Amino acid sequence: MCPRRCPAKGAKTMPGAEGPVIIYGGSFDPPHRGHVALAAAALRQLRPAAFYFVPAFRTPFKDLGPVPFPDRAALLRAALAGAGLGGRRGVKISSFEADQGRVVYTWETVAHFRKLHPGAPLRVLMGSDCLAGFSGWRRPDYLLKNSELLVGLRPGYSISRGGAPFRALAGRFPEADSTAVRAALFLGRRPAQLQPGVLEAIERRSLYLGLERRLLKRALTPARYRHTLLSAELALELAPAAGVPQQKAALAALLHDCARDLPLSEQARLCRRGTPRRAEMLREAPVLAHAWAGAALAEKKYGVKDPEVLDAIRVHATGAPGMGPLARLLYLSDFANRGRGFREARLVRRLAFLDQDAAFRAANYVKLVYTFSGGGWVHPLSVGLWNSLQEKKSG
Ligand SMILES: [Fe+2]
Ligand SMILES: [Fe+2]
Repeated sequence: MCPRRCPAKGAKTMPGAEGPVIIYGGSFDPPHRGHVALAAAALRQLRPAAFYFVPAFRTPFKDLGPVPFPDRAALLRAALAGAGLGGRRGVKISSFEADQGRVVYTWETVAHFRKLHPGAPLRVLMGSDCLAGFSGWRRPDYLLKNSELLVGLRPGYSISRGGAPFRALAGRFPEADSTAVRAALFLGRRPAQLQPGVLEAIERRSLYLGLERRLLKRALTPARYRHTLLSAELALELAPAAGVPQQKAALAALLHDCARDLPLSEQARLCRRGTPRRAEMLREAPVLAHAWAGAALAEKKYGVKDPEVLDAIRVHATGAPGMGPLARLLYLSDFANRGRGFREARLVRRLAFLDQDAAFRAANYVKLVYTFSGGGWVHPLSVGLWNSLQEKKSG
């Protein structure tokens, strides 16, 4: 029997089966070797009557959807198959939490499986990293009365005997930093923490912005595509300190130059509406048109609806007064990514890891000095950004 979505009702402990029912919750976004190792050890050591992976509901950002449950379930199936657990009797993937359409507390999941398996001993499986946060969990009394915590030791987290009662699994279990794994996937890399079958399933389903990267690769010159990836790399590194969700940072950075290699006539057509000083810009500094054209194309061709992502693309070349965190992050990452060989970019990049605001101001300064030294026309938005930053500084 293959692991499968558990039906809404009717799943029971197998007749005559002995052993506990194990519940293993998590985002599984994506499932990695650490998840599989923990599950394999629990299956081996406890011989449960049933084992449920319970992928959590994931809160969507405005218009940026997380990887949907059916895709995460497919990735879990690929991970289990890769570990030789694909046909394991009693192993299921439950849609219970994903079906609720909201964040579900562990005690609620335990209550669900308590109804499904009346009388069976329930075990809630987790790594010792999760146990560290147990004091903040809702209804710990209910949880401990109705289930037993089953904990695997993960590097960097001790199994403390001072907190909640639990049973420890024998062995030590690798942990993968899911944020780092997702960042690598957004950049089209193949992180070693994922099994080959999971990577193939991700690629087949074009998850983690795979579709966007494929379209961009076709639309851009190889050098521009590389610049795009390097901008996204820096944006992802700086996103946590900027308070920007990583998927938004990756999407904006990947798409920021999506119109850059179109003929100018096409760029001019795309930025026909709402572009400030359009006629002068097209005449005096046509290179800037790709930013407004890029925002229009991101919406039209790539289906982006998030106004913050579109705004960030729109002003990435000129800057503008009042830029939000994502727009500032993109402006900085475009200017200072590792593909920029000039000295000022290297200095701004180094500064960005210490003080992003200072790095942002420095990027604006260097860009303006460069434009002035060339004797060219300066877009009023760039001057407006400069002035707004001086006002903030003196105020
Ligand atoms: Fe650009
Ligand atoms: Fe760029």
